[in-house]
Amino acid sequence: MYPAERPRLRQARALWALLPIAVTAGLYWFGRAHSPDYTSGLFGQYGDDANRLKAQLGSALEGLALVQVALALWMYRRLPGAGAAPRPVRTVHRAVGLAAFLLSLPIAYHCITAYGVELSDSRVAVHSVTGCVLYGAFAAKVIVVRHRRLPGWALPVAGAFLVCAITLTWYSAALWFLDGHHAPGL
Ligand code: HEM
Repeated sequence: MYPAERPRLRQARALWALLPIAVTAGLYWFGRAHSPDYTSGLFGQYGDDANRLKAQLGSALEGLALVQVALALWMYRRLPGAGAAPRPVRTVHRAVGLAAFLLSLPIAYHCITAYGVELSDSRVAVHSVTGCVLYGAFAAKVIVVRHRRLPGWALPVAGAFLVCAITLTWYSAALWFLDGHHAPGL
């Protein structure tokens, strides 16, 4: 590598590191700035029906996130009794990750257009903020997967952070809705 390339490489890395923060901040800004449209629908459902559908789709998303954890543990040889993961496990992990991302989009789109980012009570604030962080975490995960020169712990840390963001977003709204407007601790 030429000496002049080093600072440029560092700058490029810093730009990549800023992307997840920019995604999170951009969503937060949009959610605070735009006027909520409470009449906004989701696949032909409105109001409480739309929220029920979001709670069901959100639970499917949480299920996919847990599948991803199991597949990741298998790839890292941490799945008890499973041995080494065959090569297709990696492909399945990528496909399930893409499916989870696509599934999240209509849900989040409805949330952010119908309500935006609300900070009115602690549960709704946790949900709104983790909803924005979730997409920053998605961006971080993809960046870490693509940058092979990062330390070995970066990928599991990024994956765990993403799963935590999905779980908290699900817990604070989807589980709350399906459990009769009840989420212990929030
Ligand atoms: C940009 C990301 C997101 C933002 C800013 C956001 C924000 C919001 C807000 C403000 C509400 C209304 C809360 C209320 O007033 O009761 C809401 C409702 C809801 N959200 Fe999200 N959300 C996001 C992503 C998601 C995702 C990924 C899921 C699925 C896990 C989800 C599931 C739900 C459900 C089921 C409801 C209805 C229950 C409720 O009213 O809390 N949201 N969201």
